[in-house]
Amino acid sequence: MVTLPSHVFFTPKRYFWALMQELYSCAVTVTDCGCGMGILLGMADYFKLPMRGVDICHREALSNKIEFIDATTLSWSSSEWPMLCRPSHGQWIGTMIDRVRADGSCMIYIGLPRNVKRDLAGARFVKITTKPVGIDGEHFYVVPSNGFPYWPTIRDALKRVPYLE
Ligand SMILES: C[S@@+](CC[C@H](N)C(=O)[O-])C[C@H]1O[C@@H](n2cnc3c(N)ncnc32)[C@H](O)[C@@H]1O
Repeated sequence: MVTLPSHVFFTPKRYFWALMQELYSCAVTVTDCGCGMGILLGMADYFKLPMRGVDICHREALSNKIEFIDATTLSWSSSEWPMLCRPSHGQWIGTMIDRVRADGSCMIYIGLPRNVKRDLAGARFVKITTKPVGIDGEHFYVVPSNGFPYWPTIRDALKRVPYLE
């Protein structure tokens, strides 16, 4: 297994966790795909939100919950969504989108606005908020599956979350 230097890319604001709490209240749980050092997994524990984290590379981890699995091999559902935070730009994102569509799930993408069109090329996506969710200006996007039945409800619910910071 490849070992990468220790580095955290996405550092969430408190607002990110408000959105996560709202999402989980809609009976959706999230797997952090490409979770790196696992910083979100420890924080999710704090908020009592069960969150899985997978990565194909090893780093000096901040969480012992990381599973070393290729995220493109996993299956998803309307109640278990993958989340990619500041993902390394590559083919695996497109593979994830194809998989999510086939499985009738949605995919969360947390990233910098300048990277969205390249990373989500060809996919329909929705920017959930006007305020950033990360300290570097990352925004919260969702790639909805075609015809996902609960999507409007969840999107409306997420929009009602007040900006906390
Ligand atoms: C730029 S880093 C971001 C790490 C973390 N999300 C953060 O914000 O600090 C991208 C991560 O995606 C992982 N990755 C790339 N392809 C992957 C795949 N197919 N399955 C799981 N993880 C993958 C890399 O190993 C790397 O840790």
